[in-house]
Amino acid sequence: MTRAIYPGSFDPVTRGHLDIIERAGRTMEHLTVAVLVNSVKNPLFTVEERVELLRRETAHLPNVEVTSFNGLLVDFARESGAKVIIRGLRAVTDFEYELQMAQTNRKIAPEVDTLFLTTSLEYAYLSSSIVKEVALYDGDISAFVTPEVEHAVKEKMKQKQNR
Ligand code: COA
Repeated sequence: MTRAIYPGSFDPVTRGHLDIIERAGRTMEHLTVAVLVNSVKNPLFTVEERVELLRRETAHLPNVEVTSFNGLLVDFARESGAKVIIRGLRAVTDFEYELQMAQTNRKIAPEVDTLFLTTSLEYAYLSSSIVKEVALYDGDISAFVTPEVEHAVKEKMKQKQNR
């Protein structure tokens, strides 16, 4: 059984991430979407909120589960019995960073391979930061995220502005 992990910050999950999850879910027998806990990024959503949003967005995919992880990705891969790490490549600018991560991970855990999926063209420009920036200035983010995530982002922005 091919178990795979799709790791990331998912702050918040975008249509681009969902595209990768759906496609990886069709190829892999089991896919764990794993939200990184110890990120150096300053997130908008808590890890629990990000996991919850991802769970709702992937509820229709029976072989996809969502969880969080702490520490090294390859340690988490070993613990969960995954032999494949899925990463999305949006543009050539992603390549150097992704190559470095994949090669480092392979050095530490040679039994775990990284598989790259090219992001669908319509999402090649997308990132969670872009979504947050457009939302911050009250722009329309409906093309980038699902209605549920859009609602969650707007609520968060309101909370932040009222603080
Ligand atoms: N569609 C839309 N956006 C996408 C995307 C897609 N298909 N693929 C990536 N992105 C965006 C993300 O939204 C994110 O945007 P942001 O920077 O604005 O938040 C950005 O691309 C990259 O983020 P992400 O894919 O979430 O990765 P990351 O760089 O935050 O984290 C980990 C990558 C979790 C895999 C890595 O940090 C990790 O493994 N950490 C654990 C510690 C470890 O093992 N370190 C050693 C690794 S060598």
